[in-house]
Amino acid sequence: MTIIASIPDFREAARRRLPRFLFEYMDGGSYAEVTLRRNVEDLSNIALRQRVLCGDMGNLDLSTELFGQKLALPVALAPIGLAGLNARRGECQAVRAADKAGIPFTLSTVSACTIDEVATAAQRPFWFQLYMIRDRAFMRDLLAQAVAAGCSTLVFTVDMPVPGSRYRDYHTGLAGSGGLKGAAWRAAQAATKPGWAWDVGLHGRPHALGNVAPVLQGRTGIEDFFAWMRNNFDPSISWADLDFIRAEWNGPLIIKGLLDPEDAKAAADIGADGIVVSNHGGRQLDGVLSTARALPPIAAAVGDRLTVLADGGVRSGLDVLRLLALGAKGVLLGRAWAYALAAQGEAGVTKMLSIIEAEMRVAMTLTGTRRISDINETILAGTG
Ligand code: GLV
Repeated sequence: MTIIASIPDFREAARRRLPRFLFEYMDGGSYAEVTLRRNVEDLSNIALRQRVLCGDMGNLDLSTELFGQKLALPVALAPIGLAGLNARRGECQAVRAADKAGIPFTLSTVSACTIDEVATAAQRPFWFQLYMIRDRAFMRDLLAQAVAAGCSTLVFTVDMPVPGSRYRDYHTGLAGSGGLKGAAWRAAQAATKPGWAWDVGLHGRPHALGNVAPVLQGRTGIEDFFAWMRNNFDPSISWADLDFIRAEWNGPLIIKGLLDPEDAKAAADIGADGIVVSNHGGRQLDGVLSTARALPPIAAAVGDRLTVLADGGVRSGLDVLRLLALGAKGVLLGRAWAYALAAQGEAGVTKMLSIIEAEMRVAMTLTGTRRISDINETILAGTG
């Protein structure tokens, strides 16, 4: 049995429970995984500035407001493709945990559960993530479904005009060897994980890829889905296409996947409400900057024009504090929730969020910050 005290413990529990192809898909990055490692290392290397005897630190306020929504913690669950296969009807379990914790859940376009199914499970408005897809009518349809489901905020991902190559997926049969050979290989991996096979394999049906299933026209294999991603993500995307999104979506718009101050300024110029400084969890262009290094110049360039969020490499509540100190107003948790969901379902995501909160409380107490708005670069060592 894995004892769970931390997010790395959830990762280990997920590794034990999931078929290898699902674990490696979620855990891995692209190419040599340099950026994947940088995200974690650069963030954990940021030294915090300890302060003591700061007076009444018994009454901390971890709440904040993002895009007109009150949040109990300055975090949201990031969009993660296929995460719904980590547990039975996984995205529904995750949205319930997010609702209970008072934070937003973001549903990926490439989720296992449909927008409608998640809306039925949700108590509060959730966020919806979209890519630029060649078929604009399909995009329009997804946006209309998100509006009808009461989604409050659109997260528009721009760093995936083409998918990066993830070598691990070739080694597990998820990419490359399609057809029966790949399916048999994955079935063999699933057979070694009876807990998952019972919970998701048998009782978690349908396994169709929720929102995308209608355009796959009956092809339900995971390789059909990857083929669809390769063929339908739009590499011709430019800033001008954001007009299309703006015309179809009236609510808050967050552009996800920026690493450069010039791109962040362009996002502010087109009237985005927010951006996510992100390298897609080290899953796209390997070798780019970690979020910890990319974030400060971006926050300096546009922090007064839109809401800057960040993700990547967050493995503790201390890391949340670090990203806030570097200039983010909120942090997206990605792998953390996917590991927790795989390990223990909804209860796991709830526990993961309570670990993040407890760790943030310690870090805020020992950096002398009572409110989220008190967290800035002065809590970093070397700033005194
Ligand atoms: C999808 O966005 C992925 O990173 O696989």
